[in-house]
Formats: sequence, C-alpha cells, structure tokens
Amino acid sequence: MNSPKHVAIIMDGNGRWGIKNKKSRNLGHKAGLKTVEKIIKSTIKNNVKNLTLYAFSTENWKRPYLEIKFLLNLLEFFLKEKIEELHKNGIKLKIIGNTKKFPKRIQINLKSAQEKTKKNKKLQLILALNYGSKSEIVNAIKLIKNKNIKINENSINKFLYTKGIPNPDILIRTGNTNRLSNFLLWQLSYSEIFFVKKMWPDFNGRDYKRIIDKFKKIKRNFGKI
Ligand code: IPE
Ligand code: IPE
Ligand code: MG
Repeated sequence: MNSPKHVAIIMDGNGRWGIKNKKSRNLGHKAGLKTVEKIIKSTIKNNVKNLTLYAFSTENWKRPYLEIKFLLNLLEFFLKEKIEELHKNGIKLKIIGNTKKFPKRIQINLKSAQEKTKKNKKLQLILALNYGSKSEIVNAIKLIKNKNIKINENSINKFLYTKGIPNPDILIRTGNTNRLSNFLLWQLSYSEIFFVKKMWPDFNGRDYKRIIDKFKKIKRNFGKI
C-alpha cells in the first residue's frame, strides 16, 4: 500500500460558508482557520510528512480591499499566536509564492517563523501565499536562462519554489468546484485528485482520513501498465 508523502489542499468555500452560516464572508475565513489547525493535526496523525495549503493566490488580489485586509490579518494572527505551538509539535514552516507584495511586517514574521522552525522534522507545512503556478514557472525559466543552465525537467524542478519537496501524491479541493485555479500545475502532473463538495470550514479529520485510505488503494501507473 502506498502512503502519501505529500498532500496539497485548495481550501475553497470559506466565503460561501460564511455567507450561509454567519452572513459574512470574512467570518467564513475565520472558521476556515480552525479547519487549518485541525487538518494540520490530522496530517501528523496520518503520518504524512508534507502538507501544502493554498492560502492566497496571485489572482486573489482582485478581491475587495477589506477582504484582503482581513485575510492578511488572519495570517498575521496565525504567525504570532500559533508559531510556538507549531514549533513545539515539530512542524517546519515553508512559504511558497512571492511574499514581496505583502506588508513588510508580515514579511519579517514569515521569515522569522521559517528560520525558527527550519530544523523541525515531524511535518513540513508549506503555505502557498501570493502563489501562482504560471508565474512560478516563468520565473524558474528566467532564472535558468540568466544562469545559462540547460533547460530540462531537472533544472526546472530546481528553480521552482518547491525545490527539494516531493510532488504532491494527493490534491484535495473542497468547495464543490472542480478546477486547479493556477495551483502547482507542474507539480500536480501525476497527483491523485479529490474534489470534495463540502466547504472548507466543514471539512474534517474523517473526510481527510477517508481520502487518504482511498488513495492507499489506488494503483498508480505513471504511464506504465
Ligand atoms: C478560499 O475560500 C479561501 C481563499 C481564497 C483565501 P473562498 O474565499 O474562495 O470561498 P468561496 O469560494 O468564495 O466560497
Ligand atoms: C483558489 O480559490 C485559491 C485559494 C484557495 C487560495 P479561489 O476561490 O480563488 O479560486 P477561483 O477564483 O474560484 O477559481
Ligand atoms: Mg473560492
């Protein structure tokens, strides 16, 4: 049986959940953060070593200013209030995406959180922040060209944000929407994809475990028979 080494999640549906249950999109994001904490714990329980969470896309800047501000505040809260607990639990934080667009204060917090947790081995928590797969790939090709290195799959892998991280075995998208929304287009080429109808705040450890168990029974061919 195959155990997944890396699970990636598109945490979608906070806004709709918030409108339906709390009459506010932002309260949906707040509830979504609770699910993040639960799923981090479940990931450790299921012995998965890498978890990538899509938290903010390069396209999410098109949202209303107040929603973006709320999301950034939640991120800051998470970094300030939860990093100690993550650290105690052996979690290494790694950011993928272009964080230069974030306020300086948050950039500093992100850097110190990664520095503080860099030796931890229990779980690597990869947060995709201002992440866009197309810009990641373009960026990698530019870097390779500047260094006069040969362009091939190997060199591209080395210049992506995900350098050194195994490709996701499993991709989960909650929120009853069946698309990739510019997430890890290169890295997901052979991932098993699970689309979930539930909105992210309703997703729980049992749903997660069911997906992992289903994954373990899949015969992955990688082109062979
Ligand atoms: C996903 O939930 C979380 C982020 C993009 C930050 P949404 O905010 O996209 O929720 P819906 O899809 O509008 O319900
Ligand atoms: C994808 O969700 C981005 C994140 C979960 C961070 P979106 O809600 O932004 O995706 P679209 O716009 O519906 O494709
Ligand atoms: Mg959405």
